[in-house]
Amino acid sequence: MLSQQENYMAVDSSNLAKKGQDILVRLTSSMKTAQIYELNNLTLIKQVNILFMFIQDALQNESEAKLQLRENTLFFNSVRIKYDFATYESFKFLAAEFKKKEIGVISFDPGLIEDELKAFIVFFANTPEAEDHPFEVFQKQLKTQKMDHVFLEKLHPFEKLSTLEEKDAKKLAQKVFFKSITHLQEVFEREKEQKRVHLKTTRRLMQSIVNLIIQDETFMVGLSNIKNYDEYTLNHSINVCVLSMCLGRRLGLDKHELMELGIASFFHDIGKLEIPKEILDKPGRLTIQEREIIERHPHLGAEILVRLKEFSYLPVRALYVALEHHLRLDLSGYPKVWKKNSINLYSQIVEICDFFDAVTTDRPYRKRTFTRYEALSMMLEKSGEEFNPHLLKIFTNMVGVYPIGSLVALDTGEIGIVSEVHSDVSSLLQPKVKLITDSQGNKIDGETVDLRIPQSEKTGSTRKIIKSLNPQEYNIRISDYFVAEVEQPAFAT
Ligand SMILES: [Fe+2]
Ligand SMILES: [Fe+2]
Repeated sequence: MLSQQENYMAVDSSNLAKKGQDILVRLTSSMKTAQIYELNNLTLIKQVNILFMFIQDALQNESEAKLQLRENTLFFNSVRIKYDFATYESFKFLAAEFKKKEIGVISFDPGLIEDELKAFIVFFANTPEAEDHPFEVFQKQLKTQKMDHVFLEKLHPFEKLSTLEEKDAKKLAQKVFFKSITHLQEVFEREKEQKRVHLKTTRRLMQSIVNLIIQDETFMVGLSNIKNYDEYTLNHSINVCVLSMCLGRRLGLDKHELMELGIASFFHDIGKLEIPKEILDKPGRLTIQEREIIERHPHLGAEILVRLKEFSYLPVRALYVALEHHLRLDLSGYPKVWKKNSINLYSQIVEICDFFDAVTTDRPYRKRTFTRYEALSMMLEKSGEEFNPHLLKIFTNMVGVYPIGSLVALDTGEIGIVSEVHSDVSSLLQPKVKLITDSQGNKIDGETVDLRIPQSEKTGSTRKIIKSLNPQEYNIRISDYFVAEVEQPAFAT
């Protein structure tokens, strides 16, 4: 139980986080407005006024109002700002602005006046970053503006590195992804032989995945396109794990919670270890008895997890997820439940990611694989019945209407793969697309085009997606485009 003092501290930090969130959103909208309008524009004045009031409010109890970029996330004074559906865009914008100018901290001191704040916003938004020593140059320019209550600190070199070494980060992401698959294979083998499994390694891998997702969520979602059909359960488990953690992050879970969600989703299908492979991989229709056997895997999974010698390293929620991941929101699905009970949040997250990955993967018993677009449309039809509508909305936004990894035909005759989706709703139909054929159908290693940007400045016309294609029919392995530089380890059979 929390002591009274601890209680106050908890309330204080959640208040502070909320204040930080408000300031983040308002600072972003003021800067965006200042990039377009003049100093005395009414919209800008209004935006700055609201921001000023938020800062003043924070300064009533705090000696400063400080936004800091650290570990690829933003802190307000000492508290980490959590992101949700609405604030994620603001975070991305502001973090990019900080990095461009190598700024680690912007702090406002008591005594700040509204005109000074407005002048700072306009100056910040309209001063291009210098190629060399951007922080030093910007600070020098700022000093000439005589702003006595705004202070800057330089970005820590490590934070800078995290953006500069993007290529290395991608390699690392791929490495961790494949390492997780081999680790799960090892866990499965050791469990079969009743040997101690290394859950400490699982925790470490999950921690790395959390950090990689924070660094580049898009790339991690892209990796979930890797489908190794022979080792379906292993590959599927890590895909579900990555997607679940990305979704969890968008819900505002903290690092520790994300790690627990990662472990839980990583082991969600561990019960399949006890289902004969002939049934799991049987081509064609299952008999009633075979279906019953498969439907035992949630129970079996929970039992295996409880039996693990290193059980204490497992979050309790892993048991819920193993048991509940085939239960739909309306409690249809399996195992059958007789008591109306709510399903654990982690299980609801995993249910969505599990379904999405399963139906987009080729399996011997499935007549045809759904494209990612079709899978999402089908899930949206069942929103509110089978899937939690709030989670599904965020998931849809995360993977996009044309999810990352979709193969799409453009109105120019070109074919491409969706490589990045924009999070603002108005651009959901205009993702970034890596071109893989020209308009004549010849294979090319084409550029990545942003469908929001006109093809030619003269006509102003943009490329448009006309339909989503099935990669199988075109003999294209989507994962090849996300794993270009790292060798895939051979899977032991
Ligand atoms: Fe399952
Ligand atoms: Fe599954």
